[in-house]
Amino acid sequence: MRLWELNMDGKVAIVTGGGQGLGKAIALGLAHCGASVCIADVNLAAAEEVASQARALGPRSLALQVDATVNEQAVRMAKQTVDAFGRIDILVNNAGGATGPTFGIGRVLNISERDWDDTLTRNVKSVFLCTKAVVPTMLAQKSGSIVNMASITGQFPFAGMPAYSAAKAAVINLTKSMAMEFAPHVRVNALAPGLIETPRTSLNRRPEQLTRLLTNVPLARMGTAEEVADMAVYLASDVAAYISGTILDCNGGQVWMTEDGRPNFRDADRKPPKT
Ligand SMILES: NC(=O)c1ccc[n+]([C@@H]2O[C@H](COP(=O)([O-])OP(=O)(O)OC[C@H]3O[C@@H](n4cnc5c(N)ncnc54)[C@H](O)[C@@H]3O)[C@@H](O)[C@H]2O)c1
Repeated sequence: MRLWELNMDGKVAIVTGGGQGLGKAIALGLAHCGASVCIADVNLAAAEEVASQARALGPRSLALQVDATVNEQAVRMAKQTVDAFGRIDILVNNAGGATGPTFGIGRVLNISERDWDDTLTRNVKSVFLCTKAVVPTMLAQKSGSIVNMASITGQFPFAGMPAYSAAKAAVINLTKSMAMEFAPHVRVNALAPGLIETPRTSLNRRPEQLTRLLTNVPLARMGTAEEVADMAVYLASDVAAYISGTILDCNGGQVWMTEDGRPNFRDADRKPPKT
C-alpha cells in the first residue's frame, strides 16, 4: 500500500488511554482513515465521548473502561473487542505518563518507592499486559501492528524525572524485544514524542517554564497531538509494512542541548519536591 492509498476500512484498532490527549488524537486519526476503534481508558466518560466523535466520522467504535495496568482488564479488553468487531489489527499502547502529586518530578534520592512503582507500572507493565492480551489474536490472524508510546526522555533522560525516563527507556527496549519475538507477522514500533501540548502537559505549567523548555527545541514550539497521531497512524498502517523495531522521533528537532551547546543533564531551576 502506498501513502496516497492509505485506507483502513475493515481494520480494527485498540487505543489505550484513548480518552484524551495523544490517545484521543490517535483514535480519531485511525477512525478518519476508516478503522473501527476501541477506546480503552480508565475514564469511561472520556472514552465514550471520543467513541461518539469517532462514530460521527463513520466507522464503528467502542468505549471500554480499562485500567491497562491490570491483567484481567487487559484480557477483557481484547475479548470484548474481538466479540464486537471480530479481529484486532492494531494496538496502540498509549496509556502512561508521569504520575503522582509532584508530576513525577524528583531525584532518585527523594522519589518514594510508591511513586517509582506507579510510574513503572503505568508506563511499562501496561505495555506488557495489553500486548500479551492482544497479540495471540494477531498471531492467529498472521497480521498485526503494535505502536508503543515511548518518549524523548527514554533516549535523553530528563533531569528531575528519573523514574519516568527509566520507564520510557524500558518501553523502547521492550519494543525491540517484541519486534523480534512477533516477527514476521506482527510489527512493533514506538513513537518518541518530545514536548507535545496535551491536557497533561499544560497542567500547572507556568509561561516562563515553557519559554525555558522551548530553548531546547529547534523548531521553537510545542508539537500538537495531531502531529503525533499522524505518525502513529502511519506506523499502524500497511504503508509501514517493512518497518518494525523502529523508534520514531517526533520532537521538533530536539537533540537535548542547551543554548550554549552543553548537554542539558542538569536542571537546576527545577526544585525537588519536599519529602
Ligand atoms: N504529551 C507529551 O508531551 C508526551 C511526550 C512524550 C510521551 N508522552 C506519552 O504519551 C502518552 C499520552 O500522554 P498524554 O500527554 O496524552 O497524557 P494525558 O494524561 O493527557 O492522557 C492520558 C490518558 O490515558 C488515560 N490513562 C492513564 N492511565 C491509564 C491506565 N492505567 N489505563 C488506561 N488509561 C489510562 C487517562 O485517563 C487519559 O485519558 C503517555 O504514555 C505519555 O507518557 C506524552
